[in-house]
Amino acid sequence: MTEKMEPKENRTVFDELRSTRPVVLAPLSGITDAPFREICRKQGCRFVYAEMTSSEALVRSNDRAHARIRGLNAPVPTVAQLLGNRPSVMADAAEMCVEMGADAVDINLGCPAKQIVRGGGGSALMREPLLVAEIIRTMASRIRKPVSVKMRAGWDDQCRNAVEIARLAEAEGASAIAVHPRTRTQAFKGHANWEVIARVKEAVSIPVIGNGDVRCREDAVRMFDSTGCDAVMVGRAALGHPWIFREIEDPGFEPPDFTRRIDIAIEHIHLLVEEKGSYRGALEFRKHLACYLKSMPENKLVREQMNRLDSLESVVDILERYKQRLHEFSFQ
Ligand SMILES: Cc1cc2nc3c(=O)[nH]c(=O)nc-3n(C[C@H](O)[C@H](O)[C@H](O)COP(=O)(O)O)c2cc1C
Repeated sequence: MTEKMEPKENRTVFDELRSTRPVVLAPLSGITDAPFREICRKQGCRFVYAEMTSSEALVRSNDRAHARIRGLNAPVPTVAQLLGNRPSVMADAAEMCVEMGADAVDINLGCPAKQIVRGGGGSALMREPLLVAEIIRTMASRIRKPVSVKMRAGWDDQCRNAVEIARLAEAEGASAIAVHPRTRTQAFKGHANWEVIARVKEAVSIPVIGNGDVRCREDAVRMFDSTGCDAVMVGRAALGHPWIFREIEDPGFEPPDFTRRIDIAIEHIHLLVEEKGSYRGALEFRKHLACYLKSMPENKLVREQMNRLDSLESVVDILERYKQRLHEFSFQ
């Protein structure tokens, strides 16, 4: 089993990044819940971010928000991530995350969604450096765990201020910076401009985590080499592919064969159902299943039935039958 990297005295989980240089699971709303993080951990991921959670909803004791900070007390370093723009509310919510076992609390400066930006959170904060400073300062003074930020390259082409925000974050007490180098107006279009990661890395002395468009080992090696970042963060490429962390870190790693992939998917649905119940777990599993199936042959039958899967039994049944089919067609 993967051992938790416990920081030595006066060091944070982020300081450990420099020596261990892990491939980190990115925060993905609706995806990196506790079951997905656990599947990634079991497949070799050594450092994870939880999905973003609204600080306002957390302090209002909203049940769904509280469900999103479950499972933070995990065997690998786990960073909670908060959305919001009110310093004292962010600090209250950060305390709750630490109470739930978070090893660090991250501030979301990157979410491009309209409703979030309209509320002044996520990437809207890239245009509010003074407010970002106040949020970091307030949170860092209130919790005994490190505070970090995850940012974009800027708001738009006219406002590419990642370096400015990074310097300010360090000065106010942030312990690490993750950079997804697209602007808010780019959303997820075009390419991530890794030069921005290199510039941020040059500008600060706290650890910098590079992120954006890493899909395989070669991409990760290129990102480490071309930016000097301390860790590489992988988001979308982990969907249906939770062994990607080991694949990147260990050049000798043999990816699981098709049968094993189905077993991993079955393990995933079990964890989801344990966490969210049979119906909701099965419903949420559909999006993961679609991703697991992408790399698999002869999957038409499963695809056709996917929208009818509404219980643990129905999912396991169809996956076991699919496994049988793969054996019959000798795809192994
Ligand atoms: C479905 C989805 C959900 C996301 N949710 C979050 C989130 O909760 N917090 C965050 O900081 N970034 C979020 N992101 C951005 C990712 O963390 C990451 O920065 C981006 O996908 C680029 O990395 P990648 O190319 O490895 O996917 C999300 C992205 C996607 C596609």
